[in-house]
Amino acid sequence: MKLLVVGGGGREHALIWKLSQSTKVEQIFCAPGNAGIAGIATCVPIESNDIDRLVEFARNEEIDLTIVGPEDPLVAGIVDAFEEAELKVFGPSRVAAEIEGNKTFCKQLLKDNNIPTGDFASFDNLDDAIDYVYKKGAPIVIKANGLAAGKGVVVAQTVEEAENAINKIMRRKAFGDAGNEIIIEEFLEGEEASFLVFTDGDIVVPMVTSQDHKPVFDDDKGDNTGGMGAYSPAPVISEGLFRRIMNDIMIPTVKAMSSGGRKYRGILYAGLMIKDGIPKVLEFNARFGDPETQPILMRLKSDLLPILEACISGHLAKTIVEWDDRPAVCVAMASGGYPGKYENGKEITGLNLAGRLKDVMVFHAGTAKNEADRIVTNGGRVLGVTAIAEDIPKTIEKAYHAVGKINWDGAHYRTDIGRKALKRI
Ligand code: AMP
Ligand code: GLY
Repeated sequence: MKLLVVGGGGREHALIWKLSQSTKVEQIFCAPGNAGIAGIATCVPIESNDIDRLVEFARNEEIDLTIVGPEDPLVAGIVDAFEEAELKVFGPSRVAAEIEGNKTFCKQLLKDNNIPTGDFASFDNLDDAIDYVYKKGAPIVIKANGLAAGKGVVVAQTVEEAENAINKIMRRKAFGDAGNEIIIEEFLEGEEASFLVFTDGDIVVPMVTSQDHKPVFDDDKGDNTGGMGAYSPAPVISEGLFRRIMNDIMIPTVKAMSSGGRKYRGILYAGLMIKDGIPKVLEFNARFGDPETQPILMRLKSDLLPILEACISGHLAKTIVEWDDRPAVCVAMASGGYPGKYENGKEITGLNLAGRLKDVMVFHAGTAKNEADRIVTNGGRVLGVTAIAEDIPKTIEKAYHAVGKINWDGAHYRTDIGRKALKRI
C-alpha cells in the first residue's frame, strides 16, 4: 500500500516508523515531514492544513490511505474532503473533531451524558465573563473556545489573573477567532494522565496509558509547552481505574457522539485529572498525543496499519491489539527559549551515536537539513528521545543516556521525566 501521513512532528515520525514495519506498506509519503522522517519516508512540501493540495496529491499519487496527525486539518474538515474525493483517510470527520475544536460543545456533551468533568460556563460577552469570575473566585481556568495550539489555556491563581486572561483572549484577540467565545472552568486538582483509544464509532479499544509533562522546567515549573516528555504506562491509573475510565468515560463518550449524529472514527484522546482515584475529563483531543504517541507506539507489538484500517471499516472488534509489558519513556529535547522565542538552524551533533543504541529511537520533531546537508534545529520541540527497557528506572536511565549523546547550542530538556512514575512503584 501507498500511505500519506499528514504532519511533521515527533508524533508523525513515530507513526511512520511504526507503519513502515508493516508488511503491507510499500511506500510512505509525509506532508510536510522533517529531517528524521525524510530518512524513512518521502517528504512532500505541502503544509498539513493545505487540504486542497493534499487531496490533489493523494489523487495524483494514488494513495491508498492517508493518516492525519494534527488537529487543525481534522477540525477544518480534511476527512470530509478526502471522503468526498473518494480517498480513504484515517481520522474523525469535521463534526466529530469538534470534540477537540469546540470546547463548549465538548463540555456540554459530557454534562448532558453525566460523564465526569468539572463545572463550566461559556461566554461570548466580556463583561459577563468577568462578572462570573468574580462570583466564582480563584483558582479558576480560562480557555479560548477554539483551537489555540495548546496555548489558549490560563490556570488563574487570582481573579485579577483571570480577568487579564479574559481581556487577552476576548479583547486583544491573542488567539484570533478562537477567542470569540471563552469557557471558564472549575479548577481541578490532582495528577494528570492521558488515555487514548482506537474506535470505529462503535467498538472502543484502549491503548496503554501514558503521562505527559507540560511545563517547560523540572518539577512542573515554568510555562506550559506542547509537552516536554512522556512515559507509558502511567502508574497513577490502576487496573480498577482503567476499567472505570473505559466504562464511565471513553465508551459513553463514543456512544454519545454516535447518538448525536457525529459518529467518531479514529483516535480519541482524553486528558484526565485524577484525584483520590476519581478521574475527570479535562479535555478531549481528536488525534494521537504528542509526545505520548512516541512511547505508546514503542510498546505496540501489533501491526498498526490493520488497526487503523479497522477503525475506518468498522471491524475493530475483530482486530488484535497487543502491547509490550515493558515501559517506555520519551524525553523531549527543545530549543533554548522555547516555549518563548528561540533560534532555528543550530547544528545537532550525536544523532548517530544515540540512534545506534539498542531499544532507543530518536524521533525528530523540529528538524531540517541545511545547505551543507547537516541536520539542524527547526522548531521549539526538536527531538523526542525514546527508550524501552524492562522497568521504569532502567528505561529512564536508557533514555537519558541517549539524550546525553546529543547536543546543540542552547539545547534544553527536563531532567525529571518519569520521576512521578518512580514515586509510585
Ligand atoms: P487543555 O489544553 O484543556 O488540556 O489544558 C492544558 C493544561 O491546562 C492541562 O493539561 C492542565 O494542566 C491545565 N488545565 C486545563 N483545564 C484545567 C482545569 N479545569 N483544572 C486544572 N487544570 C487545568
Ligand atoms: N501531549 C499533549 C497533546 O498532544 O495535546
